[in-house]
Amino acid sequence: MESYQPEVLISEEELSLRIKALGRAISEEFENEEVLVVCILKGAFMFCSDLMKEINVPVRLDFMQLSSYGDGMKSSGSVKIELDISESIKDKNVIIVEDIVDSGLTMKTLLELLKARGPKSLKIASLLFKPSKNIHKVPIDYLGFEIDDKFVIGYGLDYAGRYRELPYVGVINAGN
Ligand code: IMP
Ligand code: MG
Repeated sequence: MESYQPEVLISEEELSLRIKALGRAISEEFENEEVLVVCILKGAFMFCSDLMKEINVPVRLDFMQLSSYGDGMKSSGSVKIELDISESIKDKNVIIVEDIVDSGLTMKTLLELLKARGPKSLKIASLLFKPSKNIHKVPIDYLGFEIDDKFVIGYGLDYAGRYRELPYVGVINAGN
């Protein structure tokens, strides 16, 4: 098995600082209210876990799993629900927590689906955003970092199921 180190794009320290700020913003916006965090599996699990620790209002947690990518680096162009939320979101303040918005297809599809279930409010928190390929223009209410059009891994994000465990966001260099 190869043993190279991916290149660090966003360090643990940078992630931690930014996530603290996002947690503060969410806590201020939902003062005296309860939020339902919907963690989008699998990529957002680490971001979601760290973000929740920085939210100072009552939080509930649920999970959804969607697939739009196969095992490669290209989108398949359609979004499938692999696992749905286990509770009703009606009249709740829902925050979708996602790892990365690329073309925006996944988030656009999910927004439409969840809006139809009548939440009190519906927001998106995404750790990363690649503006270069964003065709669907979804509004990201809480954004971690804008990045160039590179395939990133680590901190929950994978390439063919690997690298999720890295504590930083990195880039794998082809030919490394
Ligand atoms: P979109 O529907 O094109 O916005 O794609 C979003 C999904 O593609 C994300 O939830 C990720 O699972 C995956 N994805 C997009 N870019 C990357 C990347 O650079 N690394 C890992 N996964 C990515
Ligand atoms: Mg994803």
